[in-house]
Amino acid sequence: MKEPVRITVTGAAGQIGYAMLFRIASGEMLGIDQPVVLQLLEIPPAMDALRGVVMELQDCAFPLVRGVVPTSKPEEAFEGADFVLLVGARPRGPGMERKDLLEANGAIFTGQGKAINDYASRSVKVLVVGNPANTNCLIALQNAKDLQPDQFTSMTILDHNRAIALLAEQTGMHVAKVRNLAVWGNHSATMFPELLSATVGGKPALELIEFDWYRDKFIPSIQQRGAEIIRARGSSSAASAANAAIEHMRLWSLGSDSVTSMGIVSRGDYDITEGIVYSFPVSCEAGKIEIDRSRSLDDFCVERLQVTERELLEERDAIKHLL
Ligand code: NAD
Ligand code: LMR
Repeated sequence: MKEPVRITVTGAAGQIGYAMLFRIASGEMLGIDQPVVLQLLEIPPAMDALRGVVMELQDCAFPLVRGVVPTSKPEEAFEGADFVLLVGARPRGPGMERKDLLEANGAIFTGQGKAINDYASRSVKVLVVGNPANTNCLIALQNAKDLQPDQFTSMTILDHNRAIALLAEQTGMHVAKVRNLAVWGNHSATMFPELLSATVGGKPALELIEFDWYRDKFIPSIQQRGAEIIRARGSSSAASAANAAIEHMRLWSLGSDSVTSMGIVSRGDYDITEGIVYSFPVSCEAGKIEIDRSRSLDDFCVERLQVTERELLEERDAIKHLL
């Protein structure tokens, strides 16, 4: 057995937290040979609910769980953390865009970025789920001055998986046959799910579907899927979001065998402004995330990459005071 690792989950009594913790505890995130200590952060009014979650964790008698620390103190929650999942934040309601949450949620990531800087392991890997995830990630990493920006990521694997599922359905193929698609930019209504390089069963995706369907149905459906779920459920996606967060951390730590999508700090690849947190096609090996730099993009793609980049620059301007 390996030494236990410390995993911090914020917003642990919320919907995503509840859908996530039991799967992390059972080994789905880091493997069934990896013991874990769960450090669970909540705000004081949610501590009763969190105590209930902790009782349920205890009642599962998970062999991999070597400790559970429920707390409302960031310094306890982030102490020695090897993996941090920043979920705790307000979700949007019907009719809102995710960036409408910046004011309510942005400040959370200033304090938590600082606390991660001060208390977490020097090799910590951080995933931001709370919306607007890209810009909250930017706030967190800018407030963690002693850590590297590439230790901070934001979640777009949920969008990536939505795109795989929709393309598989349209082509009548199994999801495992879809390879190499990518979600670019912001986790918002401007994100760009790109199929130019994607294949289904080894054939170029764009030879299997009508371009009009791609432009007029596929792209908007992925961009609006979160809102569609809110309309149907009355609250935002939780189980699929938890699933994506677990997959993100698993691929980052244990490696990926195909291209996926993650929000990472731009270093100027594909002419995207340096420093913003932007979703790129990536693969992972030995704990490192590498951008797929091999894509040739046409004007249709480049235009869309720029639209979502502009939105991220506007979001960055709106929270300048938090950086
Ligand atoms: P929720 O309201 O059910 O749970 C959020 C929890 O966070 C609550 O228990 C709340 O008490 C807690 N919280 C609030 N402020 C906190 C703080 N400062 N520190 C610690 N905990 C805090 O919401 P949810 O459905 O679990 O969603 C959480 C966030 O994830 C939302 O912002 C939502 O929009 C976002 N989300 C992102 C994606 C994505 O793909 N990136 C997908 C789904 C949801
Ligand atoms: C999602 O994509 O499901 C989440 O970001 C929740 C939302 O606000 O859409």
